[in-house]
Amino acid sequence: MNMNIMQVDYSTKIPNNVNLSDDRQVLKALEGWHPGYIDWWHDMGPEGFQQSLVYLRTAYSVDPRGWAKFDYVRMPDYRWGILLAPQEENRVIPFGAHYGEPAWQEVPGEYRALMRRLIVIQGDTEPASVEQQRHLGKTAPSLYDMRNLFQVNVEEGRHLWAMVYLLQKYFGRDGREEADELLRRRSGDADSPRMLGAFNEKTPDWLSFFMFTYFTDRDGKMQLHSLAQSGFDPLSRTCRFMLTEEAHHMFVGETGISRVVQRTCEAMRAAGIDDPADVEKVRALGVIDLPTIQKKLNLHYSLSLDLFGSEVSTNAANAFNSGIKGRYRETQIEDDHRLENDTYPVLKLVDGRIARVDEPALTALNMRLRDDYSQDCVKGMLRWNKVISSAGYDYKLTLPHVAFHRAIGEFADVKATPEGILIDEARWNARHHEWLPSEADGAFIASLMKPVTEVGQFASWISPPKVGIDNRPGDFEYVKIET
Ligand SMILES: [Fe+2]
Ligand SMILES: [Fe+2]
Repeated sequence: MNMNIMQVDYSTKIPNNVNLSDDRQVLKALEGWHPGYIDWWHDMGPEGFQQSLVYLRTAYSVDPRGWAKFDYVRMPDYRWGILLAPQEENRVIPFGAHYGEPAWQEVPGEYRALMRRLIVIQGDTEPASVEQQRHLGKTAPSLYDMRNLFQVNVEEGRHLWAMVYLLQKYFGRDGREEADELLRRRSGDADSPRMLGAFNEKTPDWLSFFMFTYFTDRDGKMQLHSLAQSGFDPLSRTCRFMLTEEAHHMFVGETGISRVVQRTCEAMRAAGIDDPADVEKVRALGVIDLPTIQKKLNLHYSLSLDLFGSEVSTNAANAFNSGIKGRYRETQIEDDHRLENDTYPVLKLVDGRIARVDEPALTALNMRLRDDYSQDCVKGMLRWNKVISSAGYDYKLTLPHVAFHRAIGEFADVKATPEGILIDEARWNARHHEWLPSEADGAFIASLMKPVTEVGQFASWISPPKVGIDNRPGDFEYVKIET
């Protein structure tokens, strides 16, 4: 392996393993963008704690065997860098009309607009989540959780850098303009919102944060996997490295929810509560009842499904055909990787009923990626349900049906129960509080969001983690709060 590519140059203002010091024009563009980024971080990054010392990991290499080092860092001093996974020698385009041709090192002119759009959409999600989560530090249930939040935040910031590098290096003036726009849009803003729906929603509490990192970061994982297959090699290498960081974000979500579920079950056991659906009794214990956790899950899963776009999409077909965006684990799939003669079953609304219809595989690629996503979501669900059953409770968290609470695609215009039964508007209005968090549910969760900042202590509603970050002991001071 090429050690120059593996190691990161930290001698320049912008750490990188892309030889920026020899790339004057791009270096200049990035240095020009840098102050705006720092302004954005101060305006829209974590509220407070900017002078606190946070035990963060920073990538110093892109070697998967050991790429990060941990140390106390003030967030504004975090070294946001440009890191690409090592170049694979003789890599070929693994799908589409250019299947088997050498991967591109520059953007083919004919695909420029489509490629730029996909990079901008991905880039837009990165700062959006930081904006959505900026209030959460103040109510962190422990220093451990606070540190994880900030780790996710600085890495989403780095992912923005990753996309901005591609825009500035490969798309000239258009790319520079798009890079500026990425700092201008704001999550939830009425005039210039972020591009995708789920990234304009609020993340009002820590259960939402865990659901977001589990379900919405996982959409990110699927998108990054598809782009990591790209025939445009720099995009592929960028996404491959982002995925190593992304794994931690989903870990935070999965273990976070698991710890909430565990604490709830322990408290119910200790109080002798047999029925997990006895919401009032459970809430009186200062923990979050399982039915409310299910409602939050219903909300975040359905919002995340919308991120996959319409089930049947010619844009998706074009992106695949032209070699820009592949399928999840494309190279491990055994078929012709062109899909010109294949079909894929798509759930559709046919004569007022939900039916499976075979569609051309090329136009059904969003559906396929969404199916892969749903399968991936199930894994955590099984672990959470294990926690519940181990505590002796007969209660299962489940993923709602894909027709439930949708704003995009086949089911955007109908109402369905979490079981996938189509219902009319009146019935939906009467019952949706049973399936989605109500204002009262939100107020209850908010009432639990009291900060815990003593070393090694945790809020009443969440269990401590099984192991510390970087194998640190339970009484480790993950954040040295500046007062
Ligand atoms: Fe990200
Ligand atoms: Fe992420």
